[in-house]
Amino acid sequence: MAKIEGFKCVSCSKEHGAKDVRYICPSCGGNVQVVYDYKAARGRLTRKFFAENPDQSPWRYLDLLPLKGDPSFWPVESGWTPLFHAQRLGRKLGLSRLHLKDDGRQPSASFKDRASAVVLARALETGERAIAAASTGNAAASMACLAAGSGLRTVIFVPQSAPPAKLTQLLVFGATVVTVMGNYDDAFDLCLQATEKFGWYNRNTGFNPFTREGKKTCAFEICEQLDWEAPDKVFVPVGDGNILSGLWKGFQEFERLKLIKKTPQLVAVQAEKSDAVKKAFETGNKLEPVSGQTLADSISVRLPRDGQAAVEALRQSQGFAVSVTDQEILEAVVSVAREANVFAEPAGAASVAGLKKAAQQGRVGAQESVVALLTGNGLKDAASVVQALKPPYLIRPSIEELEVLMDKHAGHFTAP
Ligand SMILES: Cc1ncc(COP(=O)(O)O)c(C=O)c1O
Ligand SMILES: [Zn+2]
Repeated sequence: MAKIEGFKCVSCSKEHGAKDVRYICPSCGGNVQVVYDYKAARGRLTRKFFAENPDQSPWRYLDLLPLKGDPSFWPVESGWTPLFHAQRLGRKLGLSRLHLKDDGRQPSASFKDRASAVVLARALETGERAIAAASTGNAAASMACLAAGSGLRTVIFVPQSAPPAKLTQLLVFGATVVTVMGNYDDAFDLCLQATEKFGWYNRNTGFNPFTREGKKTCAFEICEQLDWEAPDKVFVPVGDGNILSGLWKGFQEFERLKLIKKTPQLVAVQAEKSDAVKKAFETGNKLEPVSGQTLADSISVRLPRDGQAAVEALRQSQGFAVSVTDQEILEAVVSVAREANVFAEPAGAASVAGLKKAAQQGRVGAQESVVALLTGNGLKDAASVVQALKPPYLIRPSIEELEVLMDKHAGHFTAP
């Protein structure tokens, strides 16, 4: 069972007792990291322990999660998404050891289920009555999906720009949905005020320290799926920076427990105009707001809410950051679909757009072991991808018309 020793502030480095923190650092308001009693975990968590554990849910890692571990509070099955060798895509990019991890196969079809599962279990264990979340769409859809039927009310704040499929997910799972006339940052701030005023449990990314705890399970899975050989580089789509900081915590914890020998370099991939983490990392200055404009709605963020921890993760892992245009993101969506058989949403495939750019710049070795995360399913925002595709042909139901069409576009009716 996990034993939280305390919390350490990402901003001022101050340490706080396990009972002294609900969300953020009481001294400076910075985000905090959960610190466990790693000595207790070290004796139990061996490679053999995992090899003999048939459970592939997040609770496989219970010793490193902030939960007491009562199974009656565990939400629907999530986690343990496929990691596969993407040979064709790798060949195209000049990489022989490229793996993709498809988190679009989570219950609500995004990576965010990792965080929501842990936050929900924690909320149930501690007797909360309602959870509120602000989100670009996926975190909320995930919270609504996992919390359905749990007895908890879910109150969601999303920007008006959230894609229709994500809004539909929220509604179908029975969340109370408040669309905010403003952007994600406005929704985030309103959610903070609301939870403070009404006492709801706040799941906001980064602000709630347990989102990172759920997200780190992806790093654990990667280590196991690569037979305890951590990759050289992991490419991560970055908005608030919480996936990035979560992965880094996961790799560090497994290294600390001597389950892996080395940690990977992390690479942040951001949309060109939503690149606050990249800027802060490269200049060494503090995070400054940017426009956040991108069609990849899930990584559209003006001021990243876990940016500091993300910058620190890049530094500590000796990684780097890449920014990509919307056009490059759309090309990556198509390329991942055709070369690796996965339809990822724009933010989800941004990792591959960044990988392509970094490979072209000579920043990735041909023989390196590389993992790119696909963080969300393409059906969540099909509309923005359609613009990158040729429309279908339209004919009357006539074989003659079909033959005319085939004459005109012969290449499209034979094996590629
Ligand atoms: C599909 C997808 N990819 C990437 C991200 C970025 O994660 P983070 O905001 O933790 O950087 C998100 C966040 O909403 C997402 O939904
Ligand atoms: Zn602090």
